[in-house]
Amino acid sequence: MEKVFSLGLQPLANDFCVEEDERAGFAPLEVLLCPRCGLAQLSVVVRPDVLYRSYSYVTSKSVMMKEHFARLWRDVFEMSTHNGVIEIGSNDGDFLKFIAQNGATSVLGIEPASNLAAIAAVNGIQTINAFFGLGSATEAARIMNERGIIFARHVFCHVDNWMDFMKSLDLLAGQETIVCIEVPYVVDQIKTNSFDQIYHEHLSYLSLRAFNALLHRTPFRLRKVLRYPIHGGAIVLVIQKGISTPPEVEDQIKTENLDRGSWQNFSDRSEGLIKCLGDMIRQFASAGRRVVGYGASAKSTVWINAMGLTRKELGCVYDCTQQKWYKFIPGTDIPVVHEGGFYVDNPDYAVMFAWNFAGECISKQAKWLKGGGHFIVPVPAPRLIGADSVAATV
Ligand code: TMP
Repeated sequence: MEKVFSLGLQPLANDFCVEEDERAGFAPLEVLLCPRCGLAQLSVVVRPDVLYRSYSYVTSKSVMMKEHFARLWRDVFEMSTHNGVIEIGSNDGDFLKFIAQNGATSVLGIEPASNLAAIAAVNGIQTINAFFGLGSATEAARIMNERGIIFARHVFCHVDNWMDFMKSLDLLAGQETIVCIEVPYVVDQIKTNSFDQIYHEHLSYLSLRAFNALLHRTPFRLRKVLRYPIHGGAIVLVIQKGISTPPEVEDQIKTENLDRGSWQNFSDRSEGLIKCLGDMIRQFASAGRRVVGYGASAKSTVWINAMGLTRKELGCVYDCTQQKWYKFIPGTDIPVVHEGGFYVDNPDYAVMFAWNFAGECISKQAKWLKGGGHFIVPVPAPRLIGADSVAATV
């Protein structure tokens, strides 16, 4: 394994705390690359019980996410003969609620964060409150007879013991079950310089080649690869037992072109971007401008800590998620505040840490932009967005 990327010691990206909470602490954030199968993974694994016991990441309620749900469900629904659906890492049950209203005959979630499983239950989504493993898979099999589709959206790259995950999947999936594993696509991540997707929860950065190498040790084979723009570029790996990978998927795997050099260039570019945005914010702040953040995403924690900012430079970060309000951006003294106050506070510049929902943020804050405010979009390279962008995106 070769080290190809490092941000040194970093806090856990979703460890949003109030003043009196005990913080989880810091851990090295480094990516290692396997020269044999091309898998990129973190050098250390933070214990899942520390990372996920009370988890503040709630599936976005944005319009873009709703559109993604609809597209994904339409694409997968067509492939399956049975519509009983299990979701691994079902968060607050929002996706299952959507598909239950759109053709799924029965739905069941498996979610380790007790705060999120409780929200799902209130929303009427039956949820097993546990990590996915042989125990929860056995219980899910007992509850759900018809298991046509299994989703694992943005959960596989959080898993350390892949073989345990695949064995549990094997227990749950029949020959006709379609398993859909959605992950951020490392090729898109490198192309768009989104180093901010590298944090302790994301243990692996998957290419088709690396994933396919793993599958060869399991009864599953790749049936299809779907691509979506969500989260800056994601792939859905559709796998099934007892099939062989079709030639067009084999071709897709062969066309991937990712090596040590690509990672090295990405690492150099990321370092440049961190310096560029950090300098920009510091200059605006020292000229008396009020600079804030927009979207307290895990990505914001990565950026803010990589730039070494305090609330002197970045006053606060606005966010629409109630669970994050009046807590601090991990590793900093910068508070997260209610998005509703943004227009009233009228900052001069807002760094758009929810850049994956850029169009939506611009539409929402059109009045502020027209009044002279500016967003700073950090990727693929920091750029200012002003009033002239409103017409283009609304
Ligand atoms: P995510 O990219 O990890 O989903 O995080 C996006 C964060 O941005 C999440 O905390 C919600 C927040 N957000 C807003 O505050 N306002 C918005 O308009 C959108 C789209 C997201």
